[in-house]
Amino acid sequence: MMRGHDVGSAAKEQRASRLVIAIDGPAGVGKSTVAKLLASRLNYLYLDTGALYRATAWAVIESGRDPADAKAVAALLPSLSIQMQLHHGAATVLVNSRDVTGELRTPEVSSAASVVSAIPAVRAWLLPLQRQIGQGGAVVAEGRDMGTTVFPSADVKFFLEADPNVRAQRRHRELVTAGHSGALEETSADLSSRDTRDRSRSIAPLAPAEDARHIDTSNVCAAEVVDQMMAVIAAKL
Ligand code: DC
Repeated sequence: MMRGHDVGSAAKEQRASRLVIAIDGPAGVGKSTVAKLLASRLNYLYLDTGALYRATAWAVIESGRDPADAKAVAALLPSLSIQMQLHHGAATVLVNSRDVTGELRTPEVSSAASVVSAIPAVRAWLLPLQRQIGQGGAVVAEGRDMGTTVFPSADVKFFLEADPNVRAQRRHRELVTAGHSGALEETSADLSSRDTRDRSRSIAPLAPAEDARHIDTSNVCAAEVVDQMMAVIAAKL
């Protein structure tokens, strides 16, 4: 999103109420919960960019390709159309017009999403879509590279962190609630290998932007995190 330095007062007015808010951090820090709550408080769109990587991974698995085969994955992209229909607080994700929303949060798709997200062609392909959704502002965008790459001029940037054990417990609870079985240790190991991959990839790795505010969510409930964020955002509204 282009931001001019010399905006007139009418443009400032308009911009003031349509902020781009970037939230980044590793899996299990509570990003989605907090981003959804914040978007609903502000009456903004909630942009879950992880869902786009998940949808791409879902399509790769469905096509029978190996998510780690960068060439094969890149060759699939031109035949793919991913659409995100945003409603307040929820999104429907379509891959070639098929609604895959309910199939994106399995451990298999989580792991494949992390693998395909390290492929430069995939990141380049998803970049315009994310920017297009965010271009009008009034959006809470959540992911790994919102503040560093997708929306480097976001009005407010947050980077969430939490103790690895707390993150594993949270993610495990989510999976159990969604009907998946599996031990906590397995979730913990999945999370840790996904993090290492997300942080160490060569392109747009998971990292805080220099101007991001860090919030540790280990011992703070989602509503309190949103309160902390609102205190920062209020000054910009
Ligand atoms: O946020 P999530 O768990 O739904 O994301 C799934 C994977 O997608 C994550 O392991 C890394 C990748 N991802 C990314 O690389 N960049 C983003 N902006 C969002 C997600």
